[in-house]
Amino acid sequence: MARAKTPMANADIEIPADIAHALVDPTAYASERIHEAYAWLRANNPLGLAKVEGFDPFWVVTRHADILEVSRQNDLFHSGDRATTLTSQAADAKVREMTGGSPHLVRSLVQMDAPDHPKYRALTQAWFMPQNIRKLEDRIRQIARASVERMAATGGSCDFVREVALHYPLHVVMDILGVPEADEPRMLMLTQELFGAADPELSREARQPQTQDLGAIQAVIADFYNYFGKISADRRAHPAGDLATVIANSRIDGEPISEFEALSYYVIVATAGHDTTSSTTAGAMWALAQHPDQLAWVKADLARIPQLIEEAIRWTTPVKTFMRSAVEDTELAGRRIARGDWLMLCYASGNRDEAVFDEPQRFRAERTPNRQLAFGYGAHLCLGQHLARMEMRILYEELLPRLKSVALAGEGRMSLSTFVNGPKTLPIRFEMA
Ligand code: HEM
Repeated sequence: MARAKTPMANADIEIPADIAHALVDPTAYASERIHEAYAWLRANNPLGLAKVEGFDPFWVVTRHADILEVSRQNDLFHSGDRATTLTSQAADAKVREMTGGSPHLVRSLVQMDAPDHPKYRALTQAWFMPQNIRKLEDRIRQIARASVERMAATGGSCDFVREVALHYPLHVVMDILGVPEADEPRMLMLTQELFGAADPELSREARQPQTQDLGAIQAVIADFYNYFGKISADRRAHPAGDLATVIANSRIDGEPISEFEALSYYVIVATAGHDTTSSTTAGAMWALAQHPDQLAWVKADLARIPQLIEEAIRWTTPVKTFMRSAVEDTELAGRRIARGDWLMLCYASGNRDEAVFDEPQRFRAERTPNRQLAFGYGAHLCLGQHLARMEMRILYEELLPRLKSVALAGEGRMSLSTFVNGPKTLPIRFEMA
């Protein structure tokens, strides 16, 4: 029988203050600083405890193998018992005050555990499977062509984020949710506000400095609810073939799902399906602009596009972190984790783990196999992963045959967030056929 390892002394468990601070600092995620912190942690303290003023202590899971180990044990490490994203003590208290004790402002798949989670996931699982979303390929290709035309029309230089990466996935996800094109700008603003809440350039807070951070987020969620409430009512009266119809008419144990849960479902699809894919689409272009050899390699055989996409997903890892909490005392990687402890899964660290990837700090589209874990693992494995890959493949299939060259035309910048982030500006110069 294996003997339980003795936990190391506290001093060895705790992460040095500067590194722990980087983990809660949105600006660190907009630079190489977060990757330097992760590299140090993987080498020196791969499962350490971060203690930062204003936050409850949390374990920091940085190795690929440990992230998978936590993610696959959904009964031992819950999503719903504590905040699923890194949240300060003040924000957590505020949320609980607003919700009457719950740590979550919405109740979507992400915040659920068994027995509810599998039931709610099953409602849309089939819709997201490759055989169903394949039906969308022609429609998505039309959207991709329009995006490529829009880029071509700039005449050889543009901000790729603003012209292509932001709108294309938004357009796709709004299309599947049945939102009319005229309302997309409003939805774009709302998602940016929700995910970019820590980024002063993107958040409602910046425009209304007197509002409290959480009040602003709550207002954004209320806007989402108002909007999708109308879509829900419409799809109940007039069912169509879109995902909105599936959600609006869903039943659990024979009963229609509550309005709150239906609306949470729209919010998770609208938000999860947009910013993540935008960031990765832009991450791919950033890499191609920096590495002409990579562009040449993919253009030499367009069947290599899925490999390019897979590496862009690894490279960008737009979802930086999700949190879990331990349901009971347990041991992980030689550490004693107590019941109720909070853990941060650092996907971007797992995706640069030297134990799994050769030259992890280099963008290499030809990487095979590419065991990136940016979609998570286990019961919460990204529901939209096939759609995300398909969308990006189609865009690059339309773009690359026409793109002769591309280079950076200024400084690209990343958004500031400890949760979902990626390029927010990417000035490029390009030649197109
Ligand atoms: C590159 C693009 C994307 C990345 C990197 C990504 C990443 C992730 C990750 C890491 C999770 C796991 C959360 C957890 O373990 O708690 C997740 C869940 C989820 N994603 Fe994605 N996602 C992407 C695109 C999409 C798209 C396009 C959609 C839908 C249109 C989508 C819908 C969802 C949903 C509904 C969940 C919740 C699943 C559950 O909790 O059971 N995602 N995603």
